[in-house]
Amino acid sequence: MTSPAALARCLNIADLRQRARQRAHRASFDYLDGGADDEVTLRRNSEAFARFELHYRVLREAANPDTSVTLLGESLALPLILSPTACQRLFHTEGELAAARAAAEAGTVFCLSTLSSTSIETIAASTTGPKWFQFYLWRDRGLAREMIQRAKQAGFKAIILTVDLPAHGNRERDPRNGFTIPPRMGLLQAWHALRAPAWTFDYLSREPIRYANLSGNAKATSLQSFIGNHFAQGFNWSDAEWMLDEWNGPAVIKGVVRPDDAATAAAAGFRCVMVSNHGGRQLDHSPAPINVAEPIIDRVGHEMEVVVDGGIRRGTDVLKALALGAKAVGIGRAYLYGLAAGGLPGVRRALEILQNEIVRDMTLLGAADRSLVTRELLGRR
Ligand SMILES: Cc1cc2nc3c(=O)[nH]c(=O)nc-3n(C[C@H](O)[C@H](O)[C@H](O)COP(=O)(O)O)c2cc1C
Repeated sequence: MTSPAALARCLNIADLRQRARQRAHRASFDYLDGGADDEVTLRRNSEAFARFELHYRVLREAANPDTSVTLLGESLALPLILSPTACQRLFHTEGELAAARAAAEAGTVFCLSTLSSTSIETIAASTTGPKWFQFYLWRDRGLAREMIQRAKQAGFKAIILTVDLPAHGNRERDPRNGFTIPPRMGLLQAWHALRAPAWTFDYLSREPIRYANLSGNAKATSLQSFIGNHFAQGFNWSDAEWMLDEWNGPAVIKGVVRPDDAATAAAAGFRCVMVSNHGGRQLDHSPAPINVAEPIIDRVGHEMEVVVDGGIRRGTDVLKALALGAKAVGIGRAYLYGLAAGGLPGVRRALEILQNEIVRDMTLLGAADRSLVTRELLGRR
């Protein structure tokens, strides 16, 4: 168990990561924490923020800054959203319910993955906050259509099409750990389970972990073979247009790192782009989102809202993205570390840490609200 006192002693997201590593099963933690190939992009996503300096203003009366922003017509209390992440019950039995609740309490958007371990309908019934549904193009068009309709009926406000997964990235920690969904318990995994008693107690005593949006219990397989079997591989812009027609509402494209792709997406009808490389889990050596955000904002910022997603671990990271012109940022691991460390209180703690940092850093920057966080505050090393 991670006690409230232990969560309170986590002063930053890196501390929560340590707690998550202690509590979670090794295969789950590595699935959460790892990246593709040599993890160059995974590291660079965070390190790239250090390239920017913050040239703060003084004597500006920014003691109680307003951290709110608007995104796709939604007013958010914080300039960050919870990006979609698959199968959150792998990290803690409370899974997506905890993340969605904490997001609603913090006044921001929760994005539910297609591959969630809590169903579209359960999430819709248990939280009142704004929700977006993340979508991959299934090979089976009937299933794809059904998922889109279910999300619409359940009241999800926007759809996110993730486009950086035409094949599964080479995440080498997973086969080394024999990682599967649902988790399979061979000798190695049982050995790791003994070292994660709180996680293992939940695993043995709670509802089994599964892809909750699919009927029946899928056989335990690697994510790589699941994706190879079920998702369309030869996916193109006309498929994206098919999805836009089916959804017929606000749509977000996620996984873009080039201005020309962002412009094509805007012309197709997407209203928001998440500049993202899937948290360094897909093509290694793809650029850090913060490094390519500026040309994308300059190219499409007048017609699309831009969200920077990847590597955010600190309030200053959030403010650097906003200063470049992003409407908000997406966070993935930052809240998952909280979830894996301690369920709902852990996600709350992750969001509280980031909120406190954003408030303090806006005061230190001399920015009373989002409109004062501009490129003039950025220096480049
Ligand atoms: C464990 C895990 C699972 C993920 N699953 C999905 C997913 O199902 N769909 C998706 O679009 N992105 C997925 N992502 C990517 C996140 O949405 C987001 O782009 C990424 O985590 C951002 O980087 P960060 O973790 O450094 O914040 C996943 C990321 C992680 C860490």
